[in-house]
Amino acid sequence: MFAKIIGTGSYLPQMILRNGEIAKMVDTSDEWIRQRVGIKERHIADETETTSFMAIEAARHALTSAHLTANDIDLIIVATGTADYIMPSTASIVQMKLHTPNCPAFDISAACSGFVYAVDIAKQYIENGSSKNALVIASERMSRTLNWQDRSTCVLFGDGAGAIVLTQSKTPGIIASVLHTDGQGKDILNIPGLLPKNAFDGVKLEQKLYMEGNKVFKKAVSALSELVNELLHEAKLSSHEIDWLVPHQANYRILEATAKKLNMPMSQVVLTLQNHGNTSAASIPLALDYAIRNNTIKPGQTILTEAFGAGLVWGGFIAKL
Ligand code: UT7
Repeated sequence: MFAKIIGTGSYLPQMILRNGEIAKMVDTSDEWIRQRVGIKERHIADETETTSFMAIEAARHALTSAHLTANDIDLIIVATGTADYIMPSTASIVQMKLHTPNCPAFDISAACSGFVYAVDIAKQYIENGSSKNALVIASERMSRTLNWQDRSTCVLFGDGAGAIVLTQSKTPGIIASVLHTDGQGKDILNIPGLLPKNAFDGVKLEQKLYMEGNKVFKKAVSALSELVNELLHEAKLSSHEIDWLVPHQANYRILEATAKKLNMPMSQVVLTLQNHGNTSAASIPLALDYAIRNNTIKPGQTILTEAFGAGLVWGGFIAKL
């Protein structure tokens, strides 16, 4: 039994913030952001476009493309680091609003790698027969976590959501999945939660994203290069059998390095970074939905996904569509 992707969907907030507009807020330039990162613009959620709202919109599109209804869903996993509530989970809100049966529904936290972690979990539910049709969603409202005076981080991120439907299949679907964590790296990329020292002193928490970009960059390039080998080994494939790289969209130079490792031209890399920015866990399902909807990725093709983020956590999967 395989877990196969049979539908995708996504949601992007209405508002678009271009580099030039950020350059009016902090000491940066369109040229620096394009050259060092590869971003031109990103979508920013308004008050109504909450993480759960975007998750539900993406899920609805995924259900339509899978030709299923909410009634068919028996597992919901939402990957997010920017949930509306600490509790209840975003998945609970999705379950309520979509009116799915009272199936298992929960969030998982694995930062930018959240989607590949969620897919790995859903894959196991499906392969062991516990789930027939799983909704895997990643939704992020990163704009709420940013210090808009910090040019080294505020130019990088955007908001949005992506979703897939995974179903039981006799033909190959997800054929390899590899996950890793190295908690030693927790201090170079994080958003403080309830436990910073000052939480006990009655001082207002500063829950803004912190990143030592250059250190994260170096670790990402080396970890992802190794990950690609692990995935190919597990899938028993060689790199020329991969049709598309659908990477986490953090930095054009990281994507180039991973494509090089796969001996893949950039024309086989799905790129949404320039228009979406880094949407954390949501970036892979957003890119996948974009490429399937515009007929770039076609049924029967093989994709390799990879992600790296706060934890440090990294991972990916290979799937036949
Ligand atoms: O998705 C989760 C995982 N995250 C990532 O994978 C992100 C990984 N990191 C990166 O993508 C890159 O490290 C960044 C894009 C964040 C930064 O690029 P970099 O080439 O590593 O730059 P840097 O941090 O080494 O900074 C180089 C210079 C510095 O100036 P000095 O010290 O050389 O004078 C920064 O102050 O660039 C400066 N700088 C900026 N200049 C204009 C940093 N941010 C900006 C900015 N505009 N927005």
